[in-house]
Order: sequence, then C-alpha cells, then structure tokens
Amino acid sequence: MVKSETKKKIRLNSWRTWIIIGALIVLLFAILFVPRNFHHTTLFNRIRNCNCSQQGLKYYGIVEDCCCDYETVDRINEDVLYPLLHEIVKYPFLRYFKVKLWCDCPFWPDDGMCRLRDCSVCECPENEFPKTFRESSSHSHSSDDIVCQEGKPEATVDRTIDTKAFRGWIVEDNPWTNDDETDTDEMTYVNLQLNPERYTGYTGPSARRIWDAIYTENCPKYPSGECQEKRILYKLISGLHSSISIHIAADYLIDEKTNTWGQNLSLLYDRVLKYPDRVRNLYFTFLFVLRSVTKATDYLEQADYDTGNPLEDMNTKLMMKKLLHDSKLQDACPKPFDEAKLWKGQSGPELMQQTQRQFRNISALMDCVGCEKCRLWGKLQVLGLGTALKILFSVNGQEHSGQTLQRNEVIALINLLHRLSESVKFVHDMGPSVERIFGKQISASDQISR
Ligand SMILES: *[C@@H]1O[C@H](CO)[C@@H](O)[C@H](O)[C@H]1NC(C)=O
Ligand SMILES: *[C@@H]1O[C@H](CO)[C@@H](O)[C@H](O)[C@H]1NC(C)=O
Ligand SMILES: *[C@@H]1O[C@H](CO)[C@@H](O)[C@H](O)[C@H]1NC(C)=O
Repeated sequence: MVKSETKKKIRLNSWRTWIIIGALIVLLFAILFVPRNFHHTTLFNRIRNCNCSQQGLKYYGIVEDCCCDYETVDRINEDVLYPLLHEIVKYPFLRYFKVKLWCDCPFWPDDGMCRLRDCSVCECPENEFPKTFRESSSHSHSSDDIVCQEGKPEATVDRTIDTKAFRGWIVEDNPWTNDDETDTDEMTYVNLQLNPERYTGYTGPSARRIWDAIYTENCPKYPSGECQEKRILYKLISGLHSSISIHIAADYLIDEKTNTWGQNLSLLYDRVLKYPDRVRNLYFTFLFVLRSVTKATDYLEQADYDTGNPLEDMNTKLMMKKLLHDSKLQDACPKPFDEAKLWKGQSGPELMQQTQRQFRNISALMDCVGCEKCRLWGKLQVLGLGTALKILFSVNGQEHSGQTLQRNEVIALINLLHRLSESVKFVHDMGPSVERIFGKQISASDQISR
C-alpha cells in the first residue's frame, strides 16, 4: 500500500517535471521567436505587472524619489513608528505648542477672511490691543471667538493649559518659515492634546482660496519629467494636504445635533483615495519627514526635554531614544530619503533659494486661514515641514552641521511626523475596503486636478 502510493507520487512528480520542462521550452521558443521590434522586457514586464504577485495591492514598489517601498513603510509604521509617536506626543514637552494665533493675512487685506468674519480676535491690529488683554486672552476664552469661527465651536482653539506647570521657552527664527518666532508677545501656548486635528466646519470658498493660492501661485504642479528639485515642494504640500483631509475624514462631526463624531469614508475617498497621486505624496512626505528626524538623531537625543516635570521629561527622552534607535526601523528602512542627491546641478543653489522663498510664502499664507483651529494645525505642520527642510538642506548656502533646533521646531516636527504616521495608518487600514465601496461609483471625474 505504502509503496504503491509512493510510486504514484513519484510518477506524478515526474509528470509534473515534464510539464514544467515543456512549459520552459515553449517559453524559450516564445522568447526566441518574437519579432525583433518586440522588446523582450515588455514580456517580462507584463509578467511582473501581473497583479497576482502583488496580492492586488494598489501601492507597491519604491515610493517615488525615496528609498523604501510601500509595504515596508506600512510595516514599520504599524509595528514601530505609530505606536511610539502616539505615546510621545502626549508628553508635556511635545503637547504645548507656542503659536501666533492672530490672523493677519498679508495678502488679501481688503477681503481677507479675518475681516469678513467680523471677528474680534482678528480684526484689531495688534498694536491697538493692550498688552495685558493679549496675555489674558491666552487664558480666558471669550464667546466672541465662537462667532468668529462661522458659528462653529469646533473651529475654535481650546486655550486651556492644564494645571501642570511648564517652562516657557525662547525661540529663534527659522529661515524657512515666515513667522518671527522670537516675537514672544504675540505667541500663545496651546495644549495640542485638547485640540485634536479634525473636522472644523471650515470649508467653502475661504478654505479653497488658501489651497488655490498655495497650489496655483506658490507651488504649481510640475509637468511630468521635471527634475526632483522642482517636484519636491509640490509633493510635500500635496502630502500634507492629503494628511489634513484624512484627519478630517477620520474624525468628522457626523451629527451636529447629537454631537456625534465618526468617520466620513466618502470624504476620505473623494478627497484622497480617488487620486492615487495624493496617497503617493503622503507616503513621500512621511518618508521625507522621517528622514529629517533620523538625520537629526544626534541633536534630538541630546536635546533638553525640560518642562519642569522631571519624571515625564525623562520618559520623553527615553521614548525619543527608542524612536531614533529602533533596530527594526534601521534594518528595514535605513535611509528613508536621500537628500544628498538634491541641489547638485549648476542651478542647484538658485533652485533651493527659490524653493525656500516659495515655502516662506506658503508659511505666510497660514495667517490667512480663517478658522482658528485650522490655523493652529496649519502653522504647526508647515513649521514642521520647514524644520524638516532646514535639517535636510543647508540654509542660505551654509552647511547644516552643528545646527540647533528650536524647541518649537522639535515640537512641530515630531507632531507632524505623528500626524503623517496616523494618516498612513488610516489609509493602509481603510483604503482597500473604502476603494471597493466607492471606487465603482466614479471614474469619469478622475482627471480633475487638485
Ligand atoms: C492591476 O491593478 C491596477 C489597480 O488595481 C489596475 O489598474 C491594473 O489594470 C491591474 N493590472 C493587471 C495586469 O491586472
Ligand atoms: C506669495 O503668495 C501670494 C498669495 O498667493 C502671491 O500673490 C505672491 O505672488 C507670492 N509671492 C511670491 C514671491 O511667491
Ligand atoms: C461626509 O462629507 C461630505 C462632504 O463634506 C458631506 O457632504 C457628507 O454629509 C458627510 N457625511 C456624513 C455622514 O457626515
């Protein structure tokens, strides 16, 4: 019995071997006898492009202009980055952000949203506002503010600082951003944990105007084949935009009457998933910012995480070390982005200066954002990007070595990385099923550009 079964197997195996050999011969002939002008690689490309080998994944391969592939990014994000970052941002050092919440749009003085809004926070020129008022306004929260946010309480920033004492700090200027961060008088401390980035009700023409100004006047979409230096700003902004939209979709006010919050998956599809480029740019921006954090390892692990809360400060430092030296991350994706390849050509320095000017201008545009909470997160994340740019690229032609970061920059950078990490996770977790549901409904409008 046993013997005959073995024999059968052997016979079967030899049959299989013959079939395989036959198939190989056929394939060989196919390759040898294809017409000359039919490129062999096309055949192999076709085989490789077969989705079966990618398990039907929509995003695979190396993230454009980066050095890691999508699967790796998803894996290290799930296993390492997201869990760590999600804890780190809760510590006092990273949850208090110093920000100028005044709305003083430099571009549209006449019909800027701040004026339109009949907004007491915004309409008063700063020098007319008594200093003591300004200081107290960072603590008390007037009901006028709510009116200013188009009647949407969810658009206002909660300025409560919890009872934990923390030390204020001094900042210096970052050449990539517009705010003069040394101007302490106008700055307010905000507890980010009390102000989650989510739906604010800020939509329509005023919000669109900001993004239009950014995309059309400050970083137009590049023509295909453009060099990496010219692509970079658009991709960073587009990735950030995707992340912001994803946070709105992930935490949406579903029912105003009952104050029910939940996911708005159709919004996720309409604003992000429908446009694969937006998802790709999100991954790009994530890797870019991740690279800047790992590049600043020396600085970040020695930085003074001092808020006057010794235990929590020590833990902040430990967590940062864990993040910076994680072996899984280093093995899987040692260099998420290769900044050394950029700005090399003859026009390199000029291109970088131009990019810096554009980015500063975008940073200035954040003062035109009509919704306070959007302004908070817009400013934080633009400062985070500005910090990443400052770390990765020398500033004003100087080398970056020995560069120091400001406390506010560290806060912005790490919080931005957390936001992006959360977005990547959300897209990875929800994307496939959302595409299955909504993907069938639309296809004609795919060409609309942002
Ligand atoms: C692979 O999947 C993509 C997106 O899901 C699709 O557009 C493409 O046609 C598929 N290719 C093949 C060879 O099935
Ligand atoms: C800055 O942005 C504004 C508003 O979008 C635009 O009008 C202006 O041309 C930009 N300036 C520069 C130098 O890019
Ligand atoms: C989701 O967002 C869209 C667009 O903003 C909105 O029209 C729709 O009502 C939202 N859906 C839910 C369930 O709130």
